[in-house]
Amino acid sequence: METIHTIAWMKQIAAEARRTERLLGFVPTMGALHEGHLSLVRAAKAQCSPVVASIFVNPKQFGPSEDFKKYPRTFDADREALEKMGVDFLFAPTPEEMYPAGFRSGVVVDGWSERLEGRSRPGHFRGVVTVVLKLFEIVQPKFAFFGRKDAQQVRIIQQMARDLNVDAEIVVCPIVRESDGLAMSSRNAYLDATHRTAATVLHRSLIAMLDQIAKGEHDAARLLACIRAVIKAHSGVALDYAELVDADTFDPVVSLRKTCYALLAAKVGETRLIDNALIEQTGDSFHVTI
Ligand code: PAJ
Repeated sequence: METIHTIAWMKQIAAEARRTERLLGFVPTMGALHEGHLSLVRAAKAQCSPVVASIFVNPKQFGPSEDFKKYPRTFDADREALEKMGVDFLFAPTPEEMYPAGFRSGVVVDGWSERLEGRSRPGHFRGVVTVVLKLFEIVQPKFAFFGRKDAQQVRIIQQMARDLNVDAEIVVCPIVRESDGLAMSSRNAYLDATHRTAATVLHRSLIAMLDQIAKGEHDAARLLACIRAVIKAHSGVALDYAELVDADTFDPVVSLRKTCYALLAAKVGETRLIDNALIEQTGDSFHVTI
């Protein structure tokens, strides 16, 4: 595996892959890699060659009071893990390389960037979409792999790609969880033992909702009340939002329909975690993927 730090060199590699009509697969990350990230690499390896992964802790997607400085950085271990998985190129630019002095641009997907995660984290999606578009311009992927764990992020990226004629297919991969159900996240490293136990309540609240759906409950308000009740019963976990939205428009729904997401965000101690369930209609019933 070759590690690349400059945009110019990465662009040359990408241009060569394009010229020889190879299927370049791309997995963008902020590092502190876990099985969730590695599942994206595995999906890319199964479908593409060469595979490029990036590690860039993107300052522009962190708010002023957020955890940019203390975000876990485990570069050597990450590089080793990617190498072991057969990644061909690791793109790891510096902030100065990505945002040289005088950088002024930003890409906004109207409407959704201010809702849910966007409302709680002003400017977050502007930072995400801007860096992802830059990465796409540099890496020129045929396929780019993202996790459903960040359902709103991937929907916004799909929209940006469509609106701005990005020639990359966005592949969405399932959520990888710890054995007790907690969705894997680089931020889980912040949790002490008590908070780590408490954090499983997010997953448990989605299971409780699933049970209600299996019993025939389709009403959004009642399903959300069920999620809220499970989380509220746990002191030390503060719910930020729980919403049921249409998977395409991300508009709230009043009752289950074709494909929707139950989305939630909560603070466990000082650590903000998100989770979701995908709800898909099959005939008269609904199938829930957590
Ligand atoms: P990061 O949080 O490092 O996540 C990189 C990718 O891994 C994202 O597509 C995310 O959805 C996916 N991922 C994280 N946890 C996962 C899990 N438990 N199961 C499956 N996939 C998981 O998301 C970002 O970085 C950044 O916003 C980025 C897109 C790289 C732009 O800076």
